[in-house]
Amino acid sequence: MQMTFPLWTFGLLMISLTGAHELNHFPENFAVAKRYENYTLTCNSKPDDIVTWKLNGDPLEDEENVELNGQNLTVSDIDTPNLGDYSCWRGEEMLSSTYLLLKADEEDTIDSLINCRAKSYDCNFNCTWTGNGYTAVRLGLGHNCSKSSESCQWISSSRRLAEGELQFEMSHDLSPYAEESTMLELTAEAIRDLSVFRTSKRFYLRDIVQPDSPQIVKCELVNEDVNVTIAPPSTWSAPYSFFSLEHQIEYVLRDDGQTGHSSSTLIPKKISKLRVRSRDSLVLSNWSHPPLSAFARYLFLQICNVLSCPCGFLPCVPPVSTWFVLSLLQRICPTHLL
Ligand SMILES: *[C@@H]1O[C@H](CO)[C@@H](O)[C@H](O)[C@H]1NC(C)=O
Ligand SMILES: *[C@@H]1O[C@H](CO)[C@@H](O)[C@H](O)[C@H]1NC(C)=O
Ligand SMILES: *[C@@H]1O[C@H](CO)[C@@H](O)[C@H](O)[C@H]1NC(C)=O
Ligand SMILES: *[C@@H]1O[C@H](CO)[C@@H](O)[C@H](O)[C@H]1NC(C)=O
Ligand SMILES: *[C@@H]1O[C@H](CO)[C@@H](O)[C@H](O)[C@H]1NC(C)=O
Ligand SMILES: *[C@@H]1O[C@H](CO)[C@@H](O)[C@H](O)[C@H]1NC(C)=O
Repeated sequence: MQMTFPLWTFGLLMISLTGAHELNHFPENFAVAKRYENYTLTCNSKPDDIVTWKLNGDPLEDEENVELNGQNLTVSDIDTPNLGDYSCWRGEEMLSSTYLLLKADEEDTIDSLINCRAKSYDCNFNCTWTGNGYTAVRLGLGHNCSKSSESCQWISSSRRLAEGELQFEMSHDLSPYAEESTMLELTAEAIRDLSVFRTSKRFYLRDIVQPDSPQIVKCELVNEDVNVTIAPPSTWSAPYSFFSLEHQIEYVLRDDGQTGHSSSTLIPKKISKLRVRSRDSLVLSNWSHPPLSAFARYLFLQICNVLSCPCGFLPCVPPVSTWFVLSLLQRICPTHLL
């Protein structure tokens, strides 16, 4: 006879296999112990209370690895089986509970999983976390967090970007106008399989600044050249005279396919594609990312206007690549593009 199991049995099985032993948040009270060491948990009880303990809801009696001593419970030879939620009880009343977690053996491994970027010198920046298998992650800024102090203000992720990829919105209180002499200190904590990973790193805000893509305001034909007027990205710090940006235009010549760069606003007219990027001209930050599709579409329309191409009927779809594709224009109105 063939046995059939309803789907929900499978669901229950999955929950009991994975759910009970994974944490998807940092518990309010937790303790981090080293593997094979002993750890003493203290119950929040009065000296002469008679207390009992539970691990993950199951009563703890004369187990091998635990020793009761008044209001204390010592867990020895700590390893995966004795991790979890230890609660202490006076009769039916729960007095306190502490989650016992393991200190990860290789903590530095998470250092490379955090990537921060600031679009400007204003008071916010974003960090992304890319690491699969971690069920809870939090970040904190400042000395209180690197010291694991109670007063650390932990930030949890504000959105999930993809599988294993989380975004954190951080804010700092550095003045954008002062010369930056204080390093930011970022601490990350992550839980995987009831192990806690922890790392701190220090950097200057200027080291993570990367402007957004600049905007093309205008394109004008000047003899055999095109004069491209570029404006800072709207997310950049103001005033622009103080937070100066340098721009670079990259283009591909139509005749021989050669790539050229221009830090002036004048570029040759006979090009097949172009793109523009910015960076902080004082600290030589990383260049902005290539333009977004929406921006490329805007640029497309701009160039249409400059070259007076009858492009009203053109499907001005954003180009597939981040390059502005003039070749499409060439095909449709070759006489306008000499
Ligand atoms: C219980 O633990 C606390 C803190 O670790 C310690 O001060 C106290 O002496 C312990 N009590 C007993 C009865 O061992
Ligand atoms: C841990 O506890 C066990 C049993 O109570 C004891 O034998 C051992 O010496 C303790 N280890 C340490 C490092 O305190
Ligand atoms: C952080 O990311 C959010 C969402 O993607 C975005 O709206 C915000 O502008 C970003 N902030 C900074 C300072 O990069
Ligand atoms: C750090 O903690 C101390 C004492 O707990 C507190 O006075 C101080 O304001 C905290 N600093 C920050 C930046 O939160
Ligand atoms: C290019 O345009 C900018 C801004 O519109 C203008 O200031 C500049 O004089 C122009 N350059 C040339 C060579 O026409
Ligand atoms: C530029 O980006 C690279 C990799 O994205 C990073 O390692 C480097 O620290 C950044 N440098 C600056 C000055 O932003």
